[in-house]
Amino acid sequence: MAPGVEVRVLAAQVLDAVVHRGRSLKSELAAALPRLPDPRDRALLEAIAFAALRGRYRYEPALRGWMQKPPGAHEGPLLALLLAGCAQLDALQLPAHAALDATVEAARALGRPHQAGLVNALLRRAQREGFPPADPAGAWPSWLRERIAAAWPAQAPAVFAASAQPGPLWLRVNRGRIAREDYRARLEQAGLAAETDPRLADALRLDAPVPVAALPGFDEGLVAVQDGSAQQAADALAPEPGARVLDACAAPGGKAAHLLERDPALELLALDVDPRRLPRVEDNLRRSGVLERAQVRAADATMPALWWDGFTFDAILLDAPCSATGVVRRQPDILLHRREDDLAALVQAQARLLDATWALLRPGGTLLYATCSILPEENAEQVDAFLARTPDARAVALPEEFGHAAGAGRQRLPGEDGMDGFFYARLRKAD
Ligand SMILES: C[S@@+](CC[C@H](N)C(=O)[O-])C[C@H]1O[C@@H](n2cnc3c(N)ncnc32)[C@H](O)[C@@H]1O
Repeated sequence: MAPGVEVRVLAAQVLDAVVHRGRSLKSELAAALPRLPDPRDRALLEAIAFAALRGRYRYEPALRGWMQKPPGAHEGPLLALLLAGCAQLDALQLPAHAALDATVEAARALGRPHQAGLVNALLRRAQREGFPPADPAGAWPSWLRERIAAAWPAQAPAVFAASAQPGPLWLRVNRGRIAREDYRARLEQAGLAAETDPRLADALRLDAPVPVAALPGFDEGLVAVQDGSAQQAADALAPEPGARVLDACAAPGGKAAHLLERDPALELLALDVDPRRLPRVEDNLRRSGVLERAQVRAADATMPALWWDGFTFDAILLDAPCSATGVVRRQPDILLHRREDDLAALVQAQARLLDATWALLRPGGTLLYATCSILPEENAEQVDAFLARTPDARAVALPEEFGHAAGAGRQRLPGEDGMDGFFYARLRKAD
C-alpha cells in the first residue's frame, strides 16, 4: 500500500475507534503511529486525526445532508474516512488532488471498494461547497457549554476558541542534568527557537510543534514535554528539601518527575490505582534519571489501610481524576466521551481522595489539590466543601500567576498565558 494511502487508512481506523467505539485518541494513536516508519507520515496521521475531531461538529452534519440515505450502524469506517477527508480539505488545506486520491484509494484498502465512488463524490462536493463557518462553542456538548458559560460568562468565548486550537509545545528542562539556558542553546543549534516564561523556572516554550525525536537529548532525559500549567504544581507544593512526599495520583508521572528533578533528596511515594499506567510512570522517572529516588506503587489512595506504613507525609500532591475540561485542545476526544452523569461520580471520587489523603498529612504539612478541569464543582466548590467539613484545614493563598481567584484556589482557563486550563488550591494542616 502506498504510504499516503496507509496514513488515510490508519486515520479512518483511529477515528472510527474514537468516534464510534468510545476509545481514547491518545491510546489509539499510540498503537497506530509506530506502524508508519516515516516521521512525516506520523505527523500527517496525527494532524488528520486531531483536525477531524476538532471539525467533526461541522463536517458530520454537512456529510449527512449530502448523503441520499443516512449511513447505517455498520458504516462507522466510512464516516470516519469521510471525516478524515474533510479535515484534509478544510482544516489542513492539503492539495485537493492528493487528499482526494489517497482517501478514495483508502476506501478500497479498507475493504470498501463499492464505496470508493461515494467517497469521491462526497469529498468533491465538500471541496466545492465547503462547510458552515467555524463556531468553536458548537464543538462542545450543550450541557458542558452551558456549565462553562454559567461559570465563566465573560471568558467562555475565549475558552471555546482556545480549546479549538493546538497549544504550544511546552518543555520542562531537567535542572538536575542541564541548565535551562544551556538547553536553550542546544535547541538553537538544532534550529529551534524557544521562549522562557517569567512564571516558570524550568520551562521553555516552542510555538511550532516538533516531534520529540527532534529535541536534542530527549532520550537522555534532558527535557520532557509538559504544559506550563502542570509545571506550576512543583512551585505550588514547594516541599521542603528532603521532605517525605506523597503523589497520590501519579500516572503518567510528569509532576513526580519534576519534583524529583528539583530535589533528588525527596522521599517520594508515587501511587496510582491503575496498574496499567505504572510502566509509564517508571519510564518517565527513569528517563529523568530519578527512578531510584522514588517508590512507585499500584494502590488506591482512598484505602490507605492497604498500603500506608503509618508515617505521615510532609507534603501531598493530589492531582485528582477530573473532567479534563481544561485540556480539550490537547485531547479533543474529551468532548465526545464526557457524559453529564460522569461528573457527579468524579466529584464524589475527588472528595473521597481529599478526605483520605488529608488523614496522612502531618500537622503543619501542605496538600496541593489540583485538577485540569475548569468546572467549579470539581474545583472551588469542591475545596470549599472540604474546608467546611475539615476543621484542621485552611487554605493558603496562591499568587496571581496561578490564574483567576476561584474560591480558596486559583483557576487558569485554557489558552491563558499560553497554558492549559488548571486549578490549584494549597491547603495547610493546623499544627
Ligand atoms: C490527572 S491524572 C494524574 C497526572 C499525574 N499527576 C501527572 O502529572 O503525570 C489522575 C490519575 O489518578 C489516578 N487515580 C484515580 N483514582 C485514584 C485513586 N483512588 N488512587 C490513586 N490513583 C487514582 C488515575 O489512574 C490517573 O492516572
